[in-house]
Amino acid sequence: MIVYRARDFHDMSRKAANILSAQVILKPSCVLGLATGSSPIGVYAQLIEWYKKGDIDFSEVRTINLDEYRGLSANDEKSYRYFMNVNYFEHINIRPENTFVPNGLERDADKECIRYEELIRSLGGIDMQLLGLGHNGHIGFNEPGAAFEAYTHCVTLTDSTREANKRFFGSKDEVPTQAYTMGIKTIMQSRRIVVIVSGGSKAEMVKRALFGPITPEVPASALQLHNNVTLVGDAAALALIYSKRAF
Ligand code: F6R
Repeated sequence: MIVYRARDFHDMSRKAANILSAQVILKPSCVLGLATGSSPIGVYAQLIEWYKKGDIDFSEVRTINLDEYRGLSANDEKSYRYFMNVNYFEHINIRPENTFVPNGLERDADKECIRYEELIRSLGGIDMQLLGLGHNGHIGFNEPGAAFEAYTHCVTLTDSTREANKRFFGSKDEVPTQAYTMGIKTIMQSRRIVVIVSGGSKAEMVKRALFGPITPEVPASALQLHNNVTLVGDAAALALIYSKRAF
């Protein structure tokens, strides 16, 4: 794993955006796996800025998102599809038909999960997957106890995740109870993984997930088994791990 220590959220976002833009330059038709939440907002803002300056071209890029709340439509302001459109896709020259997010309105969970996995395969797999880290160690919506061998599936969200995400809704009760998410296995099949983490409240989890025992109780610990993970964290998030360099 390579660890880049950034000064703060802005610096973390720039470093991660540099890695993603290098991927797009090296392979213009690459498949980027993307995340929502607070962590990637600065990365998307930076990529938009570079696009507007003429430095990056997204016209051939395909994107596939990690997850979506079950029951929310693409037009719902709380949906991850809406988040992606507003925070990223609408500002760059990506073709809308090349952007993929699970369909929150599909009631048949098995059908949607199989469709999504087949879609990833038909795209040729994920070249680079961007991940945030949950306070409880989740990646995507793979909550503690998630099976490492799981592909895209429907999950019931834990109380702690609904609590953490209520900032995007009016209250915890309004946070959907279920979501579609790529599984750990899906994520692990990405050719390269970039994890971004910011803030002292995640420092303990960074240490446990990426340097502690590998266990389903800490879903992100599975990443230790991947051979191409880059962690970009700000100083606060990396406060409990020692090195700046590769190991
Ligand atoms: C988002 C996702 C989640 C978040 C994680 C961290 O698509 O899958 O796993 O990456 O909850 O969220 P933030 O960045 O809001 O702290």
